[in-house]
Amino acid sequence: MTLSETYENDIKKVLITEEQLENRLSELASQIDSDYKGKDLLVIGILKGAIFTITKLASKIKKNVEIDFITLSSYGSDTKSSGDIKLIMDLDENVKDRNILVVEDIIDTGLTMKWLIEYLQSKGAASVEVCTLLRKKEAHIYDVSAKYVGFEVPEVFVVGFGLDYNQYYRNIPYIGVLKEEIYEK
Ligand code: IMP
Ligand code: MG
Repeated sequence: MTLSETYENDIKKVLITEEQLENRLSELASQIDSDYKGKDLLVIGILKGAIFTITKLASKIKKNVEIDFITLSSYGSDTKSSGDIKLIMDLDENVKDRNILVVEDIIDTGLTMKWLIEYLQSKGAASVEVCTLLRKKEAHIYDVSAKYVGFEVPEVFVVGFGLDYNQYYRNIPYIGVLKEEIYEK
């Protein structure tokens, strides 16, 4: 993989702008505020991909919530899922009897989310809902329902706003499509 000095040179096109991300996350935050009115809520971000989404989303939620993180890995260093989930860093908080909102960057095959929902249920969570910034509808293999979805995206490899390719491009403030030659190099 040969990186350019700045990410602009590696991006084929902008799929979702900063403004669109901002607006959609505001909408989702108000929906979450109203759905969880009067209820306790623990928001869990999946590292590292969900960093931007949870930061932006949580800063727009008005309710008093707790935030925790878990690090999972499903992708190897390629653009295809490895089909195998690894728990790299566990939660700090006890999830027993808590209402959980999982925040994810993207649901592709659904494997990561299926694994995490079952994990949280096995630890006695009272409820588990999912908020994903992006969803690749056609790529679904495992049936997981996400109550809050930012945007449906086509089956292309996207980067930015926390999403990476080989750990790079997470710092791009929008969602972009990588130039094919980046994978081929
Ligand atoms: P799933 O387990 O197949 O649903 O894959 C979900 C995980 O794969 C996400 O949390 C991402 O980290 C990663 N992923 C899936 N598609 C993309 C993509 O287009 N760009 C970057 N990461 C992706
Ligand atoms: Mg992820």
